[in-house]
Amino acid sequence: MTESAPESEYPPISEQLDDIDAARTEGRRKMDWAAQHMPILEHVGEEFEADQPFEGERIGMAMHVEAKTAILVETLADGGAEVAVTGCNPLSTHDDVSAALDTHENITSYAKREVDDEEYYAAIEAVIGHEPTITVDDGMDLVAAIHEDYPELIDSIVGGCEETTTGVHRLRAMAEDGALEYPVFAVNDTPMKRLFDNVHGTGESSLASIAMTTNLSWAGKDVVVAGYGYCGKGVAKKAAGQNANVIVTEVEPRRALEAHMEGYDVMPMAEAAEVGDVFLTTTGNRDVIVREHFERMNDGVLLANAGHFDIEIDLEALDDLAADRYEARDGVEAYELDDGRRLNVIAEGRLVNLAAPVSLGHPVEVMDQSFGVQAACVRELVENGDEYEPGVHDVPDDLDREIAEIKLTADGVEFDSLSETQREYMGSWQHGT
Ligand code: NAI
Repeated sequence: MTESAPESEYPPISEQLDDIDAARTEGRRKMDWAAQHMPILEHVGEEFEADQPFEGERIGMAMHVEAKTAILVETLADGGAEVAVTGCNPLSTHDDVSAALDTHENITSYAKREVDDEEYYAAIEAVIGHEPTITVDDGMDLVAAIHEDYPELIDSIVGGCEETTTGVHRLRAMAEDGALEYPVFAVNDTPMKRLFDNVHGTGESSLASIAMTTNLSWAGKDVVVAGYGYCGKGVAKKAAGQNANVIVTEVEPRRALEAHMEGYDVMPMAEAAEVGDVFLTTTGNRDVIVREHFERMNDGVLLANAGHFDIEIDLEALDDLAADRYEARDGVEAYELDDGRRLNVIAEGRLVNLAAPVSLGHPVEVMDQSFGVQAACVRELVENGDEYEPGVHDVPDDLDREIAEIKLTADGVEFDSLSETQREYMGSWQHGT
């Protein structure tokens, strides 16, 4: 260990749970189910096991540690890497899965559910204590901690990968300030991730989590979707598919117009607040639903967030307004106002598809795609890391296509390819009318 690496005493999950054997068995069972539906990781995993491309690499990861992520972690470890992993959200870890991972000889897992801020960052430091040569983040907490507190480690870091929109935004802001000192792939931004994970994954799993948590129907409800980006589009489409009336709020005129042309009602949040039954934020921004909105809402509304951080719904303001507060159901906190109206917050305003007690995150097939891209990017860093300057990089298009082709083959879908004449035509400027 170099002098700069933190000497953490934060223990791996195996030293934190009481019935560790039962947890491992259940975690393994969840992972085996996920693995059966992840043909892309199975394919790249076979290659990695044979070639051992990550021999000698130490991979530090801060991700939502549940069954699908665990298959990615295991795939990298089976490819020869030493992997240290922790959570990227205090409520999204499945302890049993974390325990199952921690049994692998190449993996140390510090991820634990319901940690406080101090434990959360202690676990991040514990991962950094392994002196990673590659980082894989969901939200950029590892990159930030390394740059702020352990810059001495940067020289030995080949590069990193970032999973989500908010992490990529933060990285780009860091790069613009000239503060990002190693290359990071914007995995979020590549088609094989964003068009499926953000749209279908967030859409399906957020609605499923809210329905399971509340036991309430979508049909006939007025559902307010804040933000019509990739995630918002998925949520809006799936809610409409379940016969809800969808209302969109936006700050970007073209996206507001897009939502309008899709047939959704578009209006400011101040108006939507008066008519919505369910509010779901997907902006990646802060203070999207605030006091003036709470004041206009109807009794019994549901409030949930699918954006990365728990700052889209101003819960402090809601708490100030509330005369009483109680747990209405598992994962539902009712805030009762002076006049008796109850505003129900799901999963503490954290990522609803991962942080509610019943949440399972995105469907397995979707995460197979995102993590297939992650695995290909880690391999790219090991093979060609020297070619990338510090900064944020797009995922090379051929890697993204490779993952799409593996998936299509696995699903038995055939598709056309360009003829030579077509390729030449598409690449030329001479052919006019
Ligand atoms: P995006 O950038 O495509 O969309 C965000 C949209 O919100 C934009 O159209 C923007 O104009 C709009 N917006 C910003 N401030 C607003 C405001 N005050 N009111 C209304 N609209 C506003 O981003 P994307 O990919 O949809 O991601 C959104 C968030 O979801 C990010 O935090 C991302 O990290 C997170 N995410 C969550 C996932 C999950 O599993 N729940 C999966 C993928 C991303």
